[in-house]
Parts: sequence; structure tokens; C-alpha cells
Amino acid sequence: MRTNYCGELRAEHIGKTVTLYGWVDRRRDHGGVIFIDLRDRTGIVQIVSDPQRTPQSYNDANSLRNEYVIKVIGTVSKRPEESLNPKLPTGEVEIYADSIELLNGVGKQLPFQVSTADLEAVREDLRLKYRYLDLRRDRMARNLQLRHEVVKAIRRFLEDEHNFIEVETPILTRSTPEGARDYLVPSRVNPGKWFALPQSPQLFKQLLMVSGCDRYYQIARCFRDEDLRADRQPEFTQLDMEMSFMSQDEIIELNEALICHIFKTVKQIDITLPFPRLTHAEAMARYGTDRPDTRFGLELVDVSEIVKDSGFKVFSGAVASGGTVKVLPIPGGNDTISNVRIKPKGDLFNEAAAAGAKGIAYIRVRENNKIDTIGAIEDNLTEAQKQQLLEKTGAKPGHLLLFGAGDTETVNKSLDRLRQVMGRELRLIDPSKINLVWIVEFPMFEWNAEEKRLEALHHPFTAPYAEDLNNLKNARAQAYDLVYNGTEIGGGSLRIYQKEIQEKVFETIGLSKEEADNKFGFLLEAFEYGTPPHGGIAYGLDRFVMLLSGEESIRDVIAFPKTQQASCLLTNAPAAVEGRQLKELHVASTYRPKQEEK
Ligand code: AMO
Repeated sequence: MRTNYCGELRAEHIGKTVTLYGWVDRRRDHGGVIFIDLRDRTGIVQIVSDPQRTPQSYNDANSLRNEYVIKVIGTVSKRPEESLNPKLPTGEVEIYADSIELLNGVGKQLPFQVSTADLEAVREDLRLKYRYLDLRRDRMARNLQLRHEVVKAIRRFLEDEHNFIEVETPILTRSTPEGARDYLVPSRVNPGKWFALPQSPQLFKQLLMVSGCDRYYQIARCFRDEDLRADRQPEFTQLDMEMSFMSQDEIIELNEALICHIFKTVKQIDITLPFPRLTHAEAMARYGTDRPDTRFGLELVDVSEIVKDSGFKVFSGAVASGGTVKVLPIPGGNDTISNVRIKPKGDLFNEAAAAGAKGIAYIRVRENNKIDTIGAIEDNLTEAQKQQLLEKTGAKPGHLLLFGAGDTETVNKSLDRLRQVMGRELRLIDPSKINLVWIVEFPMFEWNAEEKRLEALHHPFTAPYAEDLNNLKNARAQAYDLVYNGTEIGGGSLRIYQKEIQEKVFETIGLSKEEADNKFGFLLEAFEYGTPPHGGIAYGLDRFVMLLSGEESIRDVIAFPKTQQASCLLTNAPAAVEGRQLKELHVASTYRPKQEEK
């Protein structure tokens, strides 16, 4: 029987005989004395064998290689003074091995050294292909442990202190309206019909409120076929919650307590309450984004009013056509940022261009507030306009002012990108800061230029503010997102629970009564049988754990993640299936590989 895990042995165990199981992390031969680092999920402890003290285990120790699986029985001893290792939690002790039993060896050459190579030094595709080896590493094992601790803290808080019950909702279901593409599953027994995997449990959790469940939560798997990024996976996990008879403020307060509880339990960090709130309009104005990193300043300044009548057509034209002119003021930027970086092909130019901007106008503020610009601005601004610009942007000698001019969305997107680049470059971001901020009062709808119609910014079940009902198109939603150091980790809303309002919202997004009935008839019908006022929220669990662990990729906190191409390198999924299976499903592929793929 195992008496201890490797990582838990300390000075207090000295003299104890222990039985350990684990993997050989490393074996070193120091002139006849063999040292083995024995590793299990909890960490590493040093095993020693030499011909004098432990002759019965010496030959076995000698034949071990990395990643062999062994059982060790031995005595915990104090390490000699010169070999104490303060970096290792078990660094005060070592185990003299009375016996070493080989349970299993390694039959093939290891694709990479499990513990000695840096995580970064091994190619990610290799790590993903041999994920079970990758997960043996300390950092990855710690990430999985942290994820588990987070889920445990969530369950304790919601179940034991706040009356939530966990309810599972279907995976084979109908399309749920979160705006991404669906993963579809053909039905064998209903020819020609398809299930969709849930993009979230949204509709079911609302139905659970109609059923009187009152407080629901679920650690829920969601599926979205969308373009992948470092913080997105096609299959990811939400902490999904829904509750009845609570106001927006009550929901926010409960969620702040939950987040505090998680930080306190898993990181022993106290978070100050309440979290600041920014309206969507304020966030867009000051940061150009609805998920601002508020750990640093560099706030944007709207100067449309000052330059709307200027002779500089890029500025006046932008305002005249309903757009904006905004400035990112960079203190000291005049000395540190060269024109080459701002002009076409420069890195800052490219950054703005990637957001759709055609270029970046700029002003350099020299000594005595003398302005230096690319010619055209200088010549076309009056002295008064220049002075107003300096005042409004707070510019001092040494400032560089970067301008975005055009449609408001592009201006915001490009200046947001530049702001983040400059924040990092100027080292304005304190990595130890934890800034949690609620974004509230989102618009209900946004314009989809491609489809030429309004669409729901969150999803069409989000309730508008009652006072905005008369002007629904421009209404604010009773919705809230939680942003953690510039990443959206959660979002939710109060829901519509009256049929007439739901119908009006569908109408506004151009969904005919027929389409609405076809897609969501079951929900609309349920609303007629006594629906309580309700609201909820969902957190991206993977994203949250990624931030808590300090990882930069969501893949490092998921046991078996997909690649950026949405495939699994370990199992080689997705894979071709046999024609027989397709036939049974009444599915035929129209895919024809291009010449070079054959
Ligand atoms: P939303 O679509 O905002 O809301 O999703 C909630 C949170 O899930 C995370 N998330 C993702 N994480 C990893 N990979 C993805 N592809 C991905 N997409 C989203 C984000 C996001 O904040 N039903 C609503 C919630 C509600 O209204 O209650 C919903 O799903 O962190």
C-alpha cells in the first residue's frame, strides 16, 4: 500500500518507512551512489541507493531509465547539509531505498524529455500528440490541479452557500443562438434531420426557470465552430448559471462574491468589492473596446468637435460622414517612437491597418508645445485648434499624439490595438494587478452591415431596460460582461420573460413570426405558462483558469485540447468515416480534395 505521495514528504517524516509509487524523473550516478528523482502527481522526491547502505536495491536502481514506473520502499532521511535543496518542497529529505521494484519500463524512445526540457522548448504539435507525457510535467499537472480547485470552489460556494443545484442539459439538441456556426450531427433514425451541439445551454436553463428550478448551475460543455485564437476553443467549458427573482444588482453582487471566493480559495488573494462598473458607452469612449485592460491608462480622447471644421479633409470628412476623430496620447512618445513605425509598412501602421484603418495621422509635441506633424495636418489646423487639441488631450512637450479618423468602429478598433501595443511596450502593465470590471448597459442591437439588419449584441433573449422600450432599436440591454485584465471571462443578462416583448425583439432583428415559431416556438410557448422573472450569466471556465494560472494559451489549461485547426493530434480527430456509416446516416459528402491535397 502506498503510504505517501512523493511531493508531500518533509523533515517531519524523517525516520519513517514509506512506500512510494511513481515515475523516474531523472537518474544520476554520482560515483557509485545512485540518485533517482521520483515523480508523481504531487511533485518530486529524491531516492538514494548505494552498495554499502542499500545493497539490496542498488542493482535495481542502476538499471532504471527515465519514465520507468517503479515502487520504492525506503526510509526518510535528512539530506546532508551540502545537498539540501531549498528550491524543492521536499528538498530537506531523501529516501534510502530498501527495495525498488520495476512495475513497467519504457519500450520506445521518448519523443521528448518529460521533465528536463522547458515547456517552450518542445514543439506544441509534439506535446499535443503525446499529451499524456506532456501532462506528466509539473507545470501542466499544476494547471489541471488548479482547474480542479476552481471547479471545487465554485461547487462549494454555489451548492453549499447559495442553494444552486446542478442540472445537466442535452448535448444533442437544436441550434442555440450564440452567433457562431453549429456543429451538426446527422440523425440515423430521422433521415434528413440534424441535431446541433449546444453553443451554450441558454434555452434549457431558461426553461429550467419556468420549471421552478429557481437556481441552476452547470459546468457545461459548449461547442462553437468559429475561428480559433489563443483564448478560444471549438469545444470549451462554461460555468453556466441562471436564477429566478433576482435583480441585476443582486445577480452582480452574488457573482462578485463567487469570484472573490474563488480567488481566496485557490490563490489566497483578497479582492476588493464591489468591482468597478463601466457602461458600454464609457468603455468604448475611453478605451475603444468593451473589454478594456484597465491596469494602465493611455485613455483615448475624442477630438471630433475640435477638428470637425478643420481644413484637414481626413478629419473633417470623417466627422461629416458620421464618424469620429480620436487621439491616443503617448507621453514621451516623441522621443521613443520613430516616423518609420507610424508610416506605411511600419509596425504601428500595420497594427492599425489590421483593424481596417487606412493610416495613422500624428502630431509630435516639441519643446514650448511646438507642434510637428506630417505636413498636411500642420498646415490645415488653426492655431486655436492646435491649442485646443493640446489641452483636451493633456499633451505636454515630448508627447506623441496618434490619431484615428473614420467610421467610429474602425477608429476604436485601431486605437484599441495601438493602446495595447504601447501599454506593453512602455511597460505600463503591472502583471501582478488583478483588474476586474463589469461592463454594463450594452446596446440591445448592433448593425450587421453584411446582412443589412440589426442583430442582438448578446442574444435575443436579453431584456431591454424598461424605460427604453419605446425606442427599442436604440435600447440598452440589461446585460453585463465581466472583464479580467482585458479578457472577457463572463457575460450574462436579465431575460425577457414576457411574450410580447420577446416578439418585438424578434421583429426588430428581422425574424418573422414564422421563423421565430420554428426556431424557438417551444420557448415562446413555455413563456405563456407562468414564467418567473429570471437572469443569468456564463463564465468561460478555460479562459478564467488560463488567466489564474498565468498561461497565455487556453490549450495549456485543457487536458486534451484541439489545435488552431480544430483537430486533435492525439486521436487524429476529425477523421474520415466509412461509406457504410454515411449511407446509414443518409449523408453524402460533396467534398472533393484539391489536386495538391490528394
Ligand atoms: P457568451 O457567448 O458570452 O455567453 O459566453 C460566455 C463566456 O464563454 C467564454 N467563451 C469561450 N471560451 C473559450 N472558447 C470559446 N470559443 C468561447 N466562446 C465564449 C467567454 C464568454 O464570456 N448563454 C450566454 C450566457 C448568458 O447569457 O447567461 C453565453 O454563452 O469567456
